[in-house]
Amino acid sequence: MRAIFLVAALALVAGASAQSMKGKELKGYTFGSDVGPWLNVSMDVKAIKDALNSPEPNFKLAQSIYMDGMNARRPDGSLFSLRTMATEPKSVDTPFWKLYTQFYKTPYWLDDNMMRAFGGIPPYVTNVTRAQVIVKSLQSALTTAYVMHELDEAVEKLKAGKKQEASDNVDQGWAIFVGGDINESLWTVAAKRANEYGTKLNCDISRVSDAVRKSFLAAQKAAQSGDVKALEKARSEVQRQLTILFTQAIITYSHEMYLDKAAGVPADEHQSEAYSFFRVIAPLINQANKNASEALDFWLFPGMNVTEDVDLKAARALAASYKGLGITADEVGRYGDKQAELGCKDYVPSSGSGILSTTQAKDSLRPAEGAAPAAGGEGAKGEEAPVEEMPAEEMPAEEAPVEEAPAAAPGGRRLRLF
Ligand SMILES: *[C@@H]1O[C@H](CO)[C@@H](O)[C@H](O)[C@H]1NC(C)=O
Ligand SMILES: *[C@@H]1O[C@H](CO)[C@@H](O)[C@H](O)[C@H]1NC(C)=O
Ligand SMILES: *[C@@H]1O[C@H](CO)[C@@H](O)[C@H](O)[C@H]1NC(C)=O
Ligand SMILES: *[C@@H]1O[C@H](CO)[C@@H](O)[C@H](O)[C@H]1NC(C)=O
Ligand SMILES: *[C@@H]1O[C@H](CO)[C@@H](O)[C@H](O)[C@H]1NC(C)=O
Repeated sequence: MRAIFLVAALALVAGASAQSMKGKELKGYTFGSDVGPWLNVSMDVKAIKDALNSPEPNFKLAQSIYMDGMNARRPDGSLFSLRTMATEPKSVDTPFWKLYTQFYKTPYWLDDNMMRAFGGIPPYVTNVTRAQVIVKSLQSALTTAYVMHELDEAVEKLKAGKKQEASDNVDQGWAIFVGGDINESLWTVAAKRANEYGTKLNCDISRVSDAVRKSFLAAQKAAQSGDVKALEKARSEVQRQLTILFTQAIITYSHEMYLDKAAGVPADEHQSEAYSFFRVIAPLINQANKNASEALDFWLFPGMNVTEDVDLKAARALAASYKGLGITADEVGRYGDKQAELGCKDYVPSSGSGILSTTQAKDSLRPAEGAAPAAGGEGAKGEEAPVEEMPAEEMPAEEAPVEEAPAAAPGGRRLRLF
């Protein structure tokens, strides 16, 4: 497989240097440097998705694209792969990577998880679960971690007086956020979620993407002028916005799990998606509210039986974390608010014989009768429902410490132990 890519890649070398992105604008941000490879990795994500979205997913091909790269070349002609992005920052001492490394107890928290899914290692055993975990981890977990890594690097370089290098890092972060293939990027992940929460600014731009763009423009200016404080502020705001985005995603997919259970169909696909989205911000939730992160980890772990009212419970646990996360219920929005007045097109389900399903915006979470009033029954509108209100048997933290969990959770439920 490697050889085939090498041949294909060599054929591209001639054109590779032709189109520099320096001075070009993308979604309202003008690059000060060439960001070709950082844009092109999104095409690798697309190629991986295409290899997997079939009744006979080609995990070998997908894995080789992940590991070796395919569409993105560094200036020296070598391939820049998604796996490089997942593993390269391990040796640095930047805040985001450090926090995640501590939480997952390995600097390879992204790569280990990918390798499990590629290899069909529990808890990722069915084709659709493996495929979703791979695709969602690439589109959401890797991009988020890398965007934050670029901003952390920018801060570090600016502190060392390296304005140009800091500015280049900011450019690269925006390239990853928007992507050369926008459908595979955080920009579009944010648009899809905004479509369910009434948080679209217009049909193309979500409130999250708009705020992230403003922060990147501020970060670019700060890097150029040497303003470390302003750069740090922009960095924190990007993290906060991404937290809002994945809070929306966790509630959406918990609701899909609820609907699966109610319909008596397997919830494994949606559970693996909910879990993948949870992993994107789990260390941040854990910092904000350890109980909430333990509970979400328990409910969403692939293979766990779907607990009653999983959507309301997840929304409640998240609402209890908002304060610590520095986000508000208004920013998350109300699940089911479709903003019909904007007249946007629906996201069309993927056609053909693909195995990956596409989630359509639903009307609302169920009426919250019986659920704690402060909870997310209406799109997590409530503030600060204390987690103690969760039924005791739903709180794994106390009665099922990790070491004693196996009886209740065969296979071990803690990915952070991987
Ligand atoms: C990005 O992909 C395009 C289209 O395949 C290709 O022409 C270009 O050389 C690639 N650029 C880099 C830097 O990899
Ligand atoms: C899972 O994927 C493999 C590899 O493509 C395929 O051979 C197999 O039929 C698939 N299994 C199911 C249950 O669809
Ligand atoms: C992105 O998705 C839209 C809608 O599904 C599609 O029309 C468009 O061609 C896609 N863009 C790329 C670059 O594949
Ligand atoms: C899920 O529920 C079934 C039937 O109630 C039970 O047999 C099984 O052990 C449960 N699985 C887990 C992982 O708890
Ligand atoms: C976490 O759970 C414990 C035990 O149920 C409880 O005493 C504590 O107050 C909870 N903390 C939060 C922040 O909800």
